[in-house]
Amino acid sequence: MARKKDRFYWLAKDEGYRSRAAYKLLQINNRFHVIKKNDTVVDLGAAPGGWLQVAKDISDGKVVGVDLQRIKPVEGVETVKGDMTSDRTISKTLKIIGDEGVDVVISDAAPNLSGNWNLDHARSIDLVESALEFAKQVLKPGGNFVVKVFQGDMFNDFLDKVKTNFAYVKAHEPRASRSQSAEIYVIGRDFLKTPVKKNEEHDVEITSLGSGGDGTVTINGFVIFVKDVNIGDRVKIRIKDVKPSFAFADVVEYLTKF
Ligand SMILES: C[S@@+](CC[C@H](N)C(=O)[O-])C[C@H]1O[C@@H](n2cnc3c(N)ncnc32)[C@H](O)[C@@H]1O
Repeated sequence: MARKKDRFYWLAKDEGYRSRAAYKLLQINNRFHVIKKNDTVVDLGAAPGGWLQVAKDISDGKVVGVDLQRIKPVEGVETVKGDMTSDRTISKTLKIIGDEGVDVVISDAAPNLSGNWNLDHARSIDLVESALEFAKQVLKPGGNFVVKVFQGDMFNDFLDKVKTNFAYVKAHEPRASRSQSAEIYVIGRDFLKTPVKKNEEHDVEITSLGSGGDGTVTINGFVIFVKDVNIGDRVKIRIKDVKPSFAFADVVEYLTKF
């Protein structure tokens, strides 16, 4: 059944965007400020190129689009034709990016819909997991991530994975999404390239006390604040919250020896 063409479809035609989806990225960016001037941006699942147009307009920096389909040229944007989940496509993309790293990874990729909701959800999760792995590989510390997910029972696990890698995470439905659609966008801001991750456990010895009275320990130069401990205590800690330059942890167990 042909879908009714809505306001964003006609707006996109009027304003020269290749897709109505362009407005979703504009709305996300107005609200969450994920892309800034001069940012390097990679868009996974980018055809026909509406998000690439928006990303290029905002950043005017290096913008790279990847899709199974050929993307008609967008001025100033480089493209890769291939499967974003394959190593071959990833290495072609990494070559274009170079050594500088990436400020923002965005992905509006969607599987071909089968009509079987569980299957479509699983395929969407497969795509977003690949996008997250790619983002972890290329993002600079403090970088941002936007990804579309079809909702379903694996959504929360995926959201938790994003939360372990970004300081600020939000699930958001932009107004330009159709009201009956089950798609949701996950926005991760401030990529944490830290030596510890949320919920990890470590055996440590408390080496000093911070000004607030919490114990502190450092792992690879990264400071972790631990409540209810004294200098010299040996404890198993679980990382509770990770910030860009420090973390908080709870004691799981007091150890007598390692
Ligand atoms: C909704 S469209 C993206 C629209 C785009 N954001 C825009 O504004 O023009 C989803 C895209 O994901 C692509 N896609 C799906 N699976 C993919 C995969 N494994 N690798 C690369 N692209 C994929 C599809 O080919 C399709 O072009």
